[in-house]
Amino acid sequence: MTDRSVTTPFSAILAARREFLKGSLAAAVAAAFPSVGCTTAPSAGQVPIGFTPIAPSADDALKIAPDHAATVFFRWGDPVGIPGNMPAFRLDASNTAAEQEAQAGMHHDGMWFFPLPYGSESSAHGLLALNHEYLDDGLLHPDGRRTWTAEKVRKAQAAVGVSIIEVRSDGERWQIVRPSRYARRITARTPCTIAGPAAGADAMKTALDPGGREVLGTFNGCANGWTPWGTYLTCEENWNSFFVNAGAITPEYQRYGIGKGRGYGWERYDERFDVVKHPREPNRFGWVVEIDPYDPASQPVKRTALGRMKHEGACPAIGPDRRIAFYMGDDEAFEYVYKFVTRRPWDPASREANRGLLDDGTLYAARFNPDGTGEWLALEHGQRGLTAANGFASQADVLIKARQAADKAGASPMDRHEWCAVHPVSREVYVTLTSSAERGRPGRPGPDAANPRANNRFGHILRWREDHDDVAATRFRWDIFALGGVPEHPDPAQRGRFKGDAFGAPDGLWFDRRGVLWVQTDISPGALNRGDYALLGNNQVLAADPATAVFKRFLVGPRGCEITGFTMTPDGRTAFVNVQHPGEIPGEISDPDAPRKGSNWPDFDPNGRPRSATVVIRKRDGGVIGT
Ligand code: FEO
Ligand code: CA
Ligand code: CA
Repeated sequence: MTDRSVTTPFSAILAARREFLKGSLAAAVAAAFPSVGCTTAPSAGQVPIGFTPIAPSADDALKIAPDHAATVFFRWGDPVGIPGNMPAFRLDASNTAAEQEAQAGMHHDGMWFFPLPYGSESSAHGLLALNHEYLDDGLLHPDGRRTWTAEKVRKAQAAVGVSIIEVRSDGERWQIVRPSRYARRITARTPCTIAGPAAGADAMKTALDPGGREVLGTFNGCANGWTPWGTYLTCEENWNSFFVNAGAITPEYQRYGIGKGRGYGWERYDERFDVVKHPREPNRFGWVVEIDPYDPASQPVKRTALGRMKHEGACPAIGPDRRIAFYMGDDEAFEYVYKFVTRRPWDPASREANRGLLDDGTLYAARFNPDGTGEWLALEHGQRGLTAANGFASQADVLIKARQAADKAGASPMDRHEWCAVHPVSREVYVTLTSSAERGRPGRPGPDAANPRANNRFGHILRWREDHDDVAATRFRWDIFALGGVPEHPDPAQRGRFKGDAFGAPDGLWFDRRGVLWVQTDISPGALNRGDYALLGNNQVLAADPATAVFKRFLVGPRGCEITGFTMTPDGRTAFVNVQHPGEIPGEISDPDAPRKGSNWPDFDPNGRPRSATVVIRKRDGGVIGT
């Protein structure tokens, strides 16, 4: 265990920040839970994280801190509650594609609670929107991929996307309201509008959509975001893996990883996923997609102004003038950090007035300087070499090739950016850089101030603060909040820099209103409980204090899972978290003849199979989670 403050070259900046946080956090706690009656007063800028941390575990069980209870709530295959269409899950995975279209998808990921009615602060009634990132054909079909049919492809396409469910609490127990007029599945076949500067561009036009303004489906939504006008943002991440390309790998395809994988077999029954036949279809994925959960008839909208990448979240920070910055990452080794700033302020008086807000603004990529300052580099056509001579004919080109535009602008290559979270008071932004074994390899970038370790096995958490606390600033100051690691590790570089409980591969990130940073981990199945990672156990949730970098382990998931999507109701007395792919094995496709080999969570039925699931967390005394 190492005190992070001893080695940073930015100790003066840190000290100034600590002083700021001392004042603001106490105010934040008072403001965030006016009716909760927090009994533990914050001291010296620290957030009261009162629970007793738990030990790592490699068991096939979900474990949680004392005085808290976790209840499995919404599993893959559970009906979402569409009126007249609520098929039950079949343990042998024999549900049809049509049934899957009305049930929870697989691989639950980012999630958000929207109070009902809209505009209220209800903590007892609301909508949960959640991503179904990808899928496991070995569990989805009784015989896995042994046979392959159009029906199987349609079922797989229905097992990804987004679920919206209505949820209600009687004060103690939460229930899914079924049927519900809000219940909805968005899948790889749901029509989505294409909006913003790239809509209608030639590069977006296909044989099936000659106008370049509508695409079927969204998938591989990983992290997420939300807007103050009550919409959900699902962020398309490893969408490239669904395409196959037997033809030439152009530099554009190369940069976005199109054609390297074997795909999911969708191209055999849905030729959109065959890049030789439909070379522009990949341009229509890799976007942030806005969904209105309050209007089940609304069509999702791909907001191209936010750029095309392997998106990791779109976390908002709202400025005093009501303009909004959305912080975003691109999860691949040596890709970049981005933000999008709306040109106009959002209008609290009219949801309708905010409909096009995400189509008009500036996309920036981040440069982290070694002296602890940073710059936001605007990706605007005609500026910074983003010209026709360099392959950018228009702003649509800049956005479709956002990665190449950020190269040209001189952004800083990072160690696999996962989620962002914005402090509820200071608006300081925290981001997880989950790990990168690539850093420092021959021919690859070496360590730098913001990514300080070669072979960064355990990842780190970086943070920054905009100049003048202005979300639209073009300069910022940054430092490293914590380095993951194992204090017992023989290599000092892998021991990390944090206090309290050890962690690695930080991924999901979320601030509660008290200013507690909730960190979720995603150690890959091939590394879990082995080698360097033997002491860290299964993937988990930790609570961290931004003022002290003390980490406390709050929850540990079952075998082979990733933990993600942690969020709470406005009163902080209910948390929701997602257990993704329990039992996942390296290679990601389960053996249909041995579906329970990796895990049998959460049903533990002798004839069942592991199921991703949303879990509800309550404190046994009804108090605020984590106190
Ligand atoms: Fe789906 Fe980058 O995690
Ligand atoms: Ca992730
Ligand atoms: Ca990850």
